[in-house]
Amino acid sequence: MSGRVYLNGKYLPREEARVSVDDRGFNFGDGVYEVIRAFDGRVFQAEAHNRRLERSLAGLEITGAPPAADLQAVGERLLEENDFLDGHATIYMQITRGTAPRKHQFPAAGTLPNVFVSCARFTPSAEQHEKGMAAITLPDIRWARCDLKTISLLPNAIAKQRAVEAGAFEAVLIRDGAVTEGAHSNLFAVVDGELRTFPRCNYILPGITRDVLIEIAGEMGIPVDETPVLAGELFQVEELFACGTTTDVTPLVRVDGKPIADGAPGPISRRLYAALLERITAEAAVPA
Ligand code: PDD
Repeated sequence: MSGRVYLNGKYLPREEARVSVDDRGFNFGDGVYEVIRAFDGRVFQAEAHNRRLERSLAGLEITGAPPAADLQAVGERLLEENDFLDGHATIYMQITRGTAPRKHQFPAAGTLPNVFVSCARFTPSAEQHEKGMAAITLPDIRWARCDLKTISLLPNAIAKQRAVEAGAFEAVLIRDGAVTEGAHSNLFAVVDGELRTFPRCNYILPGITRDVLIEIAGEMGIPVDETPVLAGELFQVEELFACGTTTDVTPLVRVDGKPIADGAPGPISRRLYAALLERITAEAAVPA
């Protein structure tokens, strides 16, 4: 990877960006992050990402980070410096508790967080959205604060690895018999023409895309019921899809090798995908 990134107040080439081996993120996965969509150099859902980042920081009691709105400005400057001012891109932000000798307890007050921002070009995959993708089911073995967007992603990384090994795109995570979310996305099903998704609580990430889709569904007159889909119902649903900043709306058409409905993307998934892309591009067209 190349390009310019931001680290602790400086803009520099990615190859020159260095953090200490005593970084708490490196040693303990002690940090938070955001992945944000941009289009034509403009950030999508900036305020929602700011709120979530600040909530994650507060949840982990990480203090001393720049205001989230300032980091959005850093992200926008990076889009410019990396020449990503046209089309789709993503911004990555990571804030760890900082650099301190490896002791489990939090370091001394005044230890500054390590703040990193980078960006990348993003190309929505037409094939992924038009044909749909496969998924596998796995037990959701994560901790009980999945609502905080922390960089401690080992269960998610392993779940995605298992999916990839099975030739699948996503893992459908199941806790206490209910479908919670994916390894890197939120999940929706269509049941009796209504959208069903796990309720916003400590067991899922409050996805920005999830919220936007709930809003879009409301505008389209599609009812949304935040009641979990049970594992036992999975093969009776009319449609199943994953959503997220880098997933958009991705129909999941096979799970554990068995088709969902007729094994093709359904009409509600298609309509929501089209509307989401329209929303992403339209927000960028609004004058600042
Ligand atoms: N992942 N749930 C999990 C566990 C996620 O990791 C993500 C996003 C989502 C969707 O959230 P949003 O709509 O705000 O992107 C849900 C990001 C993209 C990642 O880790 O790369």
